[in-house]
Amino acid sequence: MTRSSSEDLTETMDTKKLAERLTEAGQSHILQFWDQLSPEEQAEMSLDVENMNFIEINNFFQNAMKTSGQISQEKVDNRMEPVPREVLGSVTRDHECLKEWEKEGLHCISENKVAVLLLAGGQGTRLGVPYPKGMYDVSLPSHKTLFQIQAERIRRLQQLAEKQHARKCCIPWYIMTSGRTMNMTKEFFSRNKYFGLKEENVIFFQQGMLPAMDFNGKIILEDKGKLAMAPDGNGGLYRALGTQKIVEDMEKRGISYIHVYCVDNILVKVADPAFIGFCSLKGADCGAKVVEKTNPTEAVGVVCKVDGRYQVVEYSEITLPTAEKRSPDGRLMFNTGNIANHFFALPFLKEIVRTHEPQLQHHVAQKKIPYVNPQGQLIKPDKPNGIKMEKFVFDIFQFAKTFVVYEVLREDEFSPLKNADSQDGKDNPTTARHALMSLHHRWILNAGGHFVDENGTRIPAIPRHGPAGTVTPEVSPNLKDGTDLPIKCEISPLVSYGGEGLEHLANGRAFQPTLTIDENGVHELVKNGL
Ligand code: UTP
Repeated sequence: MTRSSSEDLTETMDTKKLAERLTEAGQSHILQFWDQLSPEEQAEMSLDVENMNFIEINNFFQNAMKTSGQISQEKVDNRMEPVPREVLGSVTRDHECLKEWEKEGLHCISENKVAVLLLAGGQGTRLGVPYPKGMYDVSLPSHKTLFQIQAERIRRLQQLAEKQHARKCCIPWYIMTSGRTMNMTKEFFSRNKYFGLKEENVIFFQQGMLPAMDFNGKIILEDKGKLAMAPDGNGGLYRALGTQKIVEDMEKRGISYIHVYCVDNILVKVADPAFIGFCSLKGADCGAKVVEKTNPTEAVGVVCKVDGRYQVVEYSEITLPTAEKRSPDGRLMFNTGNIANHFFALPFLKEIVRTHEPQLQHHVAQKKIPYVNPQGQLIKPDKPNGIKMEKFVFDIFQFAKTFVVYEVLREDEFSPLKNADSQDGKDNPTTARHALMSLHHRWILNAGGHFVDENGTRIPAIPRHGPAGTVTPEVSPNLKDGTDLPIKCEISPLVSYGGEGLEHLANGRAFQPTLTIDENGVHELVKNGL
């Protein structure tokens, strides 16, 4: 079909307007290949560019660069204080309080006051799969994905709260995606019938995207007609909560407390009642779950006070002597390792969205960003050539009036999936799978069960590498020699949320791996190739 002259005219005028806007913003290079683009590519590019606020983006860049320059020069050692004991709850040091916290949390859940919010808008570049990370299968015996494990933990928790309080309840699940992950995530949930949850209680919303810039503030083209875009960080949450009217939805549902967490932690205790109960009994508006940092050089941010306000201090912001400081009890003084697992009271979240979000500066991450050079060739740089701008979910701790910290055991609650198996031996599918199976193994032991090999010989509680036949060797090219392999054991979250309710299945029984327990019963897959 030929285009009418009036269409051509509109297009020319629109292009002219676009060019003017870009020139004003100092970003006219974006159109350098315009004449080489097909009409479809031109239309797509116009659409991408049309809704962008270049003044705002340029400001973000300038402020982010200014702040990052200041931060990189300055260490915060002298302004830091550790978390005081009175705001700290610990599953080990306050063991006697756990039951009370859990009871309170389940009570809040039973009153439909608790929601969970999943941060799933990341690009997962290190894992390197072309689909959202939550869809990843780490090769558990069940082949459940991260999304399914989390969904089933929510279902089980609803059942536990219902049983204890004899009333129906629901934990709404808010899932933040990005422009890149939204469709695939939604389709995956729909195809899997929301993993048994009610569709209306799974609410997807989308975070913003920002262009990647070179060090001079010029937007990078990843192709002749395509800007290099990236999600605006997990702290993009707060803007999205406002623009997508999620806070209003929470209010309508009568939510009081929100548990925010990351998609990649296979052990995440979604809506953990003890954490919710602890925070609510303390009257907290904001809380952070942490694991103990035991090694001074571990690359983890720590929750602490700086100039009297709570924040996460990155490992690069302190000197080694401070990282090595110890308290009288021998632990590291700054040992509250952040695992991006947070509690918010709704009024606090509302206040953040309404008042504080616009004041938060973006952080700068220097990256190697593939680009087209002025000759139109695609270049993959081997050193950082530009920046991505991101806000972080913990940037808002500073605004909390009552902030609390809740320390949990790493082996029970934290094993993130960041890297592909071939990259290094840390935080990869193998370590995530092992962490989950090893936790479930301990649940069986605690419930009075044990494992035997094919000859009926008891397998020690701390399994060793080999001898062959006791544990099916599961070889990761990256596991160091002598690394203990876990017993193959997986318990469905639909049967147990946190190790509870297994005695009648396990007490006094001997199991041969691979053991799986699900809603259909106990299965021992003795001869397996898993
Ligand atoms: P990471 O910072 O580990 O990023 O995200 P990532 O995207 O998963 O992985 P890489 O760095 O590209 O390899 C921590 C959590 O924050 C979410 C992620 O989905 C993950 O749950 N996130 C990150 C967002 O929701 N939005 C973002 O813009 C960035």
